[in-house]
Order: sequence, then structure tokens, then C-alpha cells
Amino acid sequence: KSAELLLSEKPPLETLISSHDFETVASKTLSAKAWAFYSSAATDCVTHRANKEYFDRIWFRPRVLRNMAGPVNMRTTILEERKCRGKQEDVDMPDVSMSAPFFCAPAAMARLVHDSGEMGIAKGCAEKGVVQCISTNASFPASEICGTVSPDHPFLFQLYVNKDRSATSKLLKSFPKSIKAILVTVDAATPGKREADERVRSDESLMTPMSGARAVNDKKGGALGRIMGNYIDPGLNWEDLKWLRKETRLPIVVKGVMSVEDAVMCAETGVEGVVISNHGGRNLDTSPPSLRVLLQLHLTRPDVFGKLDVYLDGGIRRGTDVLKALCLGAKAVGIGRPFLYNLNYGSEGVAHLIDILKDELEVAMKLIGITDLSQAGPQYLDLGESIR
Ligand code: FNR
Repeated sequence: KSAELLLSEKPPLETLISSHDFETVASKTLSAKAWAFYSSAATDCVTHRANKEYFDRIWFRPRVLRNMAGPVNMRTTILEERKCRGKQEDVDMPDVSMSAPFFCAPAAMARLVHDSGEMGIAKGCAEKGVVQCISTNASFPASEICGTVSPDHPFLFQLYVNKDRSATSKLLKSFPKSIKAILVTVDAATPGKREADERVRSDESLMTPMSGARAVNDKKGGALGRIMGNYIDPGLNWEDLKWLRKETRLPIVVKGVMSVEDAVMCAETGVEGVVISNHGGRNLDTSPPSLRVLLQLHLTRPDVFGKLDVYLDGGIRRGTDVLKALCLGAKAVGIGRPFLYNLNYGSEGVAHLIDILKDELEVAMKLIGITDLSQAGPQYLDLGESIR
């Protein structure tokens, strides 16, 4: 099918009113490979489903009669000086101001959806003041993606550490100034088994310029996640965080933490943040839902939130999901698949989804009785029967 034909099959952008609408349209209009790669999750997809379902199991405790007539403030700043330079003299003080407490999570190969790829996401995000995290497996080099928008607009960079460490060192040195922090992904010692992705052969012309990886179909099928990830170092360990600290002056955030113990170890190691994430259910199936791990951290080690920024991703589809994570202490949340499904409409689709999510978040804030994110807290959640 030609791009024109696909476009004509899509309903007008303004008729899409939720992230689910973007997913439905994507399921019908993306190429078989793009849909398989983006929507797939590991084996039985239990974790992928549970990520969203766990948000639906936690109820709010809304408060009323609080005069919600005024404006709502959902701006936030991540990686503040207190938590960064406070403990690491050699870290550049970032200034990552966000118009809303969510960012575009790193995802490989956005060009499969739309020719503009990550540059289209960058344009839509910058227009709305939302931060994008660029994947090592992006379809364009970071300098090109950042170069699409004003140099004042901040980006994050997701790092897969290469078996060949000199390649990683070189990559880190190539970053433009717009990149404000590194999210080093640690939950991919080996790729997950994503069966939907394995069943559709890959286009061997695909490659990710920053890693140099190329999609060459193997005996196990055409799963892009696996064949693109051959370069990732399975030997990565806690000592390597010290090595990484020497390689970059940027704040370091560890992405892919799934236990209270590892979050505590990250705090002790002195990194600036963690992303509680199971890779959107794409790696270890039956890994717990991200929100459950955040809840456990909140209940058992609240001190960790004062030592580093805690972020979460996985299953965020609604403004209410964002707000629940913030009530449990997350500084911001990452949103993965919806930022690929919206790119189906180019950068306008990206901007439109951001507006939808901001509107949903504003409604949720007013209806629980807060007008500023600094007021969010566990008192607005009914945690009685939550850990099951
Ligand atoms: C990802 N994710 C991911 N993570 C990462 O650290 N590096 C990467 O290159 C990718 N690539 C990638 C591709 C695709 C198609 C998806 C869907 C996801 C994981 C991503 O950053 C994030 O953890 C999840 O997507 C969050 O879950 P949701 O929001 O998709 O439910």
C-alpha cells in the first residue's frame, strides 16, 4: 500500500480523542512489520497487560469543596541541582524543565511508522514543551534529531552499552548540548522473545545509525528487537556505572529497575535517577507491573525518593495513570507505544496526543482536588488493598 492510500484510510486527526484511538488506527493502518514490532511484548504478554491493569486497580481518594476555579500548574523540573551536583562534583547541572510530568520514552526505529521518524516526534514534543528520550536504536543520529528543533529544547538519551566500549565512548562524545542526561538501559542483558515480531520478516535495509546494527533475519525469525540488539553488552554490571561516570559529565539514570533492592543500590551508587520499567513488558514476561514496584518502593523505602529522581514507565495511557504514579512519588513518567502510534499522523499527531494527555491530567488533578503537582501525594490514593 502506498503512503497516500494509508493516509486516506485514517480518520481525521481531530476525531481521535484518546491514546487508545491512536492505537486502534495504528493497528489498522501501519505496515504488518511496524505494527508487530511496536505492539509486541514478550511471550504471553502478561506483564504488558498487567502494566495497564495495575493502574486500574488503584482507586483515587478525591477531595471536594476546594475551589478548583483557578489555573492548574502541571509544569515540573527533573534532575534538579540538589540531587545532581549535590553529590557528584563532575556532573553538569542540567536544567530540564517540562510542561507536563511525562516524557516520550525511548523507542527504536520510529521511521517504521513515518518517514520523519524521531525527528517528527521531536517537532511535536518541542512544540508542546515535552521532553523526548532518544534511543540508541533510533533511525537517525542524535545530532540530526536534536537539530530539528531549537537548541534550547532539552532531550534525554537512552544508552545501550556496546560490547565494544570504545564505540560507546565515541557515541557519548558525539552528543549535542541539547542532551541533558543519559538513561542507561539495564534490563536487556538478552532480548525478550517477542513472538508477534518474530513472525514477520524484517526489512534487511533497516539499520540504526548510532549503533551500526542492521536487521538481518536469523534462524529464529525476524524479531527486530533481537537482531538489532546483538551489540548490547550482556556483561554490564554495577562496576560499569563507575566507568560510565568517567565517560560522561551528564547525569546518569538507570532504566529498567524492577526491585526495591536494585533501586536502593542505585541510590547508594550515586546515580541521579532510576526508571522503574519492565521495558513495556517486552523483555522478561511475568516481571511485575511497574506501578506495583513503585508502590513497594513507596511503602518500604521512602528515603530513596529523596536521594534520586524516580521515574516510571509502562502502561501509561491516561492522565489518571500519570497522576497515580506522581502521587506515589514518581517525578515524571515515560510513555512508550503511544508516541509511536501518534506519529502515524506525523508531528501533528504527536502534538495532538500531548494535548489530550495534558487535558486528561488537568481534569484528574481538579477532580481529586489539587491545582499544582507539588500537592500530589499518597493521601489521594486508596492503598488499602493495593498490594496483591
Ligand atoms: C521500546 N523500549 C525501549 N527501551 C529502551 O531502553 N531502548 C529502546 O531502544 C527501546 N525500544 C523500544 C521500542 C519499542 C517499539 C517499544 C514499544 C518500546 C521500551 C520503552 O522505552 C518503554 O520502557 C516502554 O515502551 C514503556 O511501556 P509503554 O508505555 O509502551 O506501555
